[in-house]
Amino acid sequence: MTDVRFEPTTRLRGTVVAPPDKSISHRAALLGAMTDTPVRIANYLEAGDTLSTLAAVQQLGALTEVRPDEVIVRGVGLREAREVTNAIDVGNAGTLMRLLPGWLAGHEGRAWILDGDESIRRRPVDRIAEPLRRMGAVVEPTAGRFPPFRLYGARLRSIAYDLPVASAQVKSCVLLAALTADGSTTVTEPIPSRDHTERMLARAGVTIHRHGRHVTVANCDELELEDVVVPGDLSSAAFVIAAGLIVSGSRLVVEDVGVNWSRTGFLRIVERMGGIVIGDLEEEPVDAIPTEEPVTDLDVTAGPLVGTVVEFDEVPLAIDELPLVALLGCFAEGETAVRGAAELRVKESDRIEAVVSGLRALGASIEGTPDGFVVTGTGGVRGGVLDAHGDHRLAMMGAVAGMASEEGVTVAGMDAAEISYPRFAEDFAQLA
Ligand code: S3P
Repeated sequence: MTDVRFEPTTRLRGTVVAPPDKSISHRAALLGAMTDTPVRIANYLEAGDTLSTLAAVQQLGALTEVRPDEVIVRGVGLREAREVTNAIDVGNAGTLMRLLPGWLAGHEGRAWILDGDESIRRRPVDRIAEPLRRMGAVVEPTAGRFPPFRLYGARLRSIAYDLPVASAQVKSCVLLAALTADGSTTVTEPIPSRDHTERMLARAGVTIHRHGRHVTVANCDELELEDVVVPGDLSSAAFVIAAGLIVSGSRLVVEDVGVNWSRTGFLRIVERMGGIVIGDLEEEPVDAIPTEEPVTDLDVTAGPLVGTVVEFDEVPLAIDELPLVALLGCFAEGETAVRGAAELRVKESDRIEAVVSGLRALGASIEGTPDGFVVTGTGGVRGGVLDAHGDHRLAMMGAVAGMASEEGVTVAGMDAAEISYPRFAEDFAQLA
């Protein structure tokens, strides 16, 4: 575990390119493996989580080639994942752990074991086991709920499934399983979540439609996907944006950021807080599923912030950025509250507990609630030591807090950033 000190800084200036999107990279590698002609992926994220996905699809029989400008996946096709006796190691990647079983579930007569690191073993998989069982697969989580788990593929039935949690991972798992089911499957979301899987499936020629909160996908024989260009990751760019807002005197640009409507909740929250971030954001598409992922450059200027309230219907659209909302809340005037975000408790760490204890250790006035937190802005944070709890997003939040703090912050476990943003230190060095 690496301890890294972040000293107070002023004036972050210049331009960085957003790192490639993690969610879209996972999906591109998985759909590449499910396709029987080669898929070229430009701007694939080479970071801990998405390298786990390349390793997993290789274990399942796909060939992957990492070139300087692209990754090529030569897949096995929709129904030909190789059965292996060793456990498939998803590492720290929750998305891989929840999406991959969707594909594998339709392989009648084949079985796999999925496992991952210590943090993965604390993250629930009953949420995917339930719909996959209804479709006919057998899933056996440890203690009924956690990895490692064994999955037995089956001839799948199509279902109509009401998601009990607003989770893009669970939705995507069911949509992938639906491809090999015996008819059309409908998934109903309680509130919208990121739609990258829907867009990529539409691009791969799958018949898929959205009507309000219902997504219907038809089964198919094959995917036809030739190339994918991965946009920049708003969730990673959010650390640069937050730093640009709270490090005084900053003015910076983050280029090529993916601004799919279902990912930009953080930018709408920031706008309410009075933050100045200018870019060309996607409007919410009405019913139709776009096949593209829109990108823009975001221009960020530091300035005063005011508190805001984030309600449950905004949570899935900003889920990974909520720790940063807490940090911005420390710098804002008045109170900032996040509600209806109990999902944060089952992320890479218990992100309510870790954010509250982490920011308190830096002098913040923050209270946890069962499903969120309330921050009273004091104009900033003092500084101190923040424990990342092995969570990449906590580590990077601590680093940003340090740059904007009075006395500096030591992040215990900064190496966790390798999971999603390996160039974090270089990018900030460029802006300093
Ligand atoms: C993701 C969905 C979200 C998010 C995670 C990535 C995805 O999880 O927190 O980092 O790629 O689908 P949930 O769907 O569990 O909310």
